[in-house]
Amino acid sequence: MLDVAVLVSGRGSNLQALIDACADEDFPARIVRVISNNPDAYGLERARQANIPTSVINHRDYDSKEAFEEALDKELNACKAKMICLAGFMRILEARFVNRWKDRILNIHPSLLPSFKGLHTHERALESGVRFTGCTVHIVRPEMDDGPIILQAAVAVNPDETADELAARILEYEHIIYPEALRLMASGKARIAGDKVIIESAAYPDGGWI
Ligand code: GAR
Repeated sequence: MLDVAVLVSGRGSNLQALIDACADEDFPARIVRVISNNPDAYGLERARQANIPTSVINHRDYDSKEAFEEALDKELNACKAKMICLAGFMRILEARFVNRWKDRILNIHPSLLPSFKGLHTHERALESGVRFTGCTVHIVRPEMDDGPIILQAAVAVNPDETADELAARILEYEHIIYPEALRLMASGKARIAGDKVIIESAAYPDGGWI
């Protein structure tokens, strides 16, 4: 059983998908703590409802990014987390922190990486005229929204829809691929090989494309 901490900044719907997946006794990971930089994050409430311990580490309480990340690191070690899932965690983590947790931080991003890194992904996908967009779960590297890809889901773009409508359709797939990616990593069926994640072909005959 892999002990995981989930970091959230807001509504926490991906956190909820992970909580729901962990409720299955065959799931190979469990959430030992939910940490937020935002004391008002609804994700904290979701954790409380699932009886998961929570912590608030508010970046505004620290003089520097380094001090904030030191506090985060201390908390993660205190709860003995072995892996971190970023689930709508809207602070960029510095290389020092990322390297300390190398290969042990997962992130979900609402685009088909490496396209549309950063914010406003759905607006930019619509503006660019791409026919497909989607979501990606990847291992975090020091460069923003970069790192070995575990799973992706593609969604066809309807040029008449709004960014919010597109976001809502993609979010449904986020809730599928994030628990699935965690399951693959926690069970050892996916492993990191350099810049790639290799998934056992028996576990994923199509190579991680949903
Ligand atoms: C999700 O769409 C997630 O992919 C995105 O924020 C949203 C959080 O929603 N993350 C990023 O943009 C990170 N670069 P949630 O709080 O309901 O899970």
